[in-house]
Amino acid sequence: MCGIVAYVGSREAAPLIVKGLKRLEYRGYDSSGIAVITDQALKVFKKKGKVKDLEVVLANQNNLGNIGIGHTRWATHGEPNDVNAHPHMSNSGRLAIIHNGIIENYASLKQMLLNKGYEFKSQTDTEVLVNFIEEIQKTKNCELPDAVRLALKDVVGAYAIVVLDKENPGQLVAARKGSPLVIGVGHEEYFFASDATPIIEYTKEVVYLDDLEIAIVNQDGLTIKNLQNEEQDPEIQTVELELEAIEKGGFDHFMLKEIFEQPKSIADCLRGRVNPDEAIIQLGGLRSHIGKLAKAKRIVFVACGTSWHAGLVGEYLFEELARINVEVEYASEFRYRNPIIKEGDFVIAISQSGETADTLAALEMAKSKGAVILGVCNVVGSSISRITEAGVYTHAGPEIGVASTKAFTAQVTVLTMMAIATAHAKGTLSDETYRQLLIEMAAIPEKVEKILEKSEEIKDISKLFTFASNFIFLGRGLNFPVALEGALKLKEISYIHAEGYPAAEMKHGPIALIDEDMPVVFIAIKDSSYEKVVSNIQEVKARKGRVIAIVSEGDRDVKSMVDFAIEVPKTHEVLQPLLTVIPLQLLSYYIAVLRGRNVDQPRNLAKSVTVE
Ligand code: M6R
Repeated sequence: MCGIVAYVGSREAAPLIVKGLKRLEYRGYDSSGIAVITDQALKVFKKKGKVKDLEVVLANQNNLGNIGIGHTRWATHGEPNDVNAHPHMSNSGRLAIIHNGIIENYASLKQMLLNKGYEFKSQTDTEVLVNFIEEIQKTKNCELPDAVRLALKDVVGAYAIVVLDKENPGQLVAARKGSPLVIGVGHEEYFFASDATPIIEYTKEVVYLDDLEIAIVNQDGLTIKNLQNEEQDPEIQTVELELEAIEKGGFDHFMLKEIFEQPKSIADCLRGRVNPDEAIIQLGGLRSHIGKLAKAKRIVFVACGTSWHAGLVGEYLFEELARINVEVEYASEFRYRNPIIKEGDFVIAISQSGETADTLAALEMAKSKGAVILGVCNVVGSSISRITEAGVYTHAGPEIGVASTKAFTAQVTVLTMMAIATAHAKGTLSDETYRQLLIEMAAIPEKVEKILEKSEEIKDISKLFTFASNFIFLGRGLNFPVALEGALKLKEISYIHAEGYPAAEMKHGPIALIDEDMPVVFIAIKDSSYEKVVSNIQEVKARKGRVIAIVSEGDRDVKSMVDFAIEVPKTHEVLQPLLTVIPLQLLSYYIAVLRGRNVDQPRNLAKSVTVE
């Protein structure tokens, strides 16, 4: 939530920062702004709306100097407007700050500053922080890095900040706790950003700042200190991210590009891990953990949103294949519930961003109670991937559309590999089933490709449901989480109210909603619950509901009883979610586009939820 970018070097800062903000707009997009130092003056430009609205404000500005900070906001304190937009300036006009996170004790700090005569223009916690830093700088008569460090000792909450000081026009001071911050190290130039995407065009050398560290960049280069003022050795890493991976590449939206990337992203996820010819499955990141997982009494998946749905698929997989007791928890509930965790329990976080605040906190809590903590993350170097004992990267590539698509299928692919490897180690899978599963897994990318070829057909179906007010998604077994995911996709990008249910639960309430205006999407593939789902379809049709069914290739029976059927290729039952979710992603996408929604940046949402 919120994207931050900063630059100091010999390039013109403002255009570089604005370009970076566009790359981070997925993190928040209700207002944006920049602060620069030019002609010894600290200037702030900010605007409610998207970064393109800020560009209009900047259109007539000439070179604004070689140092600056920028922010794209997802509002927490104070409504989205020009005043609450970042950067925020201190009362004297000397300092400007950008901030991603929440200062939880801002109210008491604000009262203390009000008592001392400070005035506030915005409703934000961030304006309190910059004035608190200024107050320390004045009263202790210290340099900015010390003032930031001392201020942060008294701050409760989460932050990634960068501060600019008019009196030091070659210096940037940054710090983080709980919110991500990457430093790009170029030739006599430095970049700060919430992720590496604004940086990779200029340098691939980065340092991931750790929690409770402060980074100072000035004529002496980069210095990193902890809050105790002890210098830390920066670990420079090389990011393997290419520019084309973060561009739309001819697609209308990132979401569509990401849906169509799934044959490749699933193949990338399987590459070097699944080898059906030699009947090998290996997960490098878990090499020394698979044997322990096989002996686990309990696995707890913690996640939010789409990643939680992937966790539900993981529950079915581990129970079915490896016969291990699994629980799937919303991270936000788990972390505050004082759950019972026994020594040796595995708590596995699933997160695309690796930065979701609740998931991170749930993991930290589980660790403190003695659990072995593992991660399934997409973003390399993310906070979750760094605090976990071991884990598996999903290798889906950057996911920029706010609605998660390729990250979900990559998460399910990883969880499937983990479950198969664990089951094989445990001996709960016959050799034949094991081999069969590996062969079927390797064939998934091609089968996804076949479903994507039906996109025009799905678009035509979408046209007939564009103005529906409600939708129900139903599935059983492994396809129940897919029903939940279908409903989430539709509501988040089209703003149509949608519910996902286990198909059999329909009789216990939702059936009252069925009439001729209610579209019901069934996942009705030929698996062990096929007959039961068919009965549920009959129940809906008897009440005049309009049914769209996801069916197995060649299934004429269901086709004859529903309004629309979308065929998916056959595969092993436990791999079906990787196929059945694809038509649901496309259905949501086309409906949202037809309704004129901003599918990549739906209202009120942000890609990376770094506040609880
Ligand atoms: O980065 P994470 O996977 O931890 O994010 C979790 C959720 O915020 C995320 O899946 C969200 O629900 C998506 N917008 C769903 O499309």
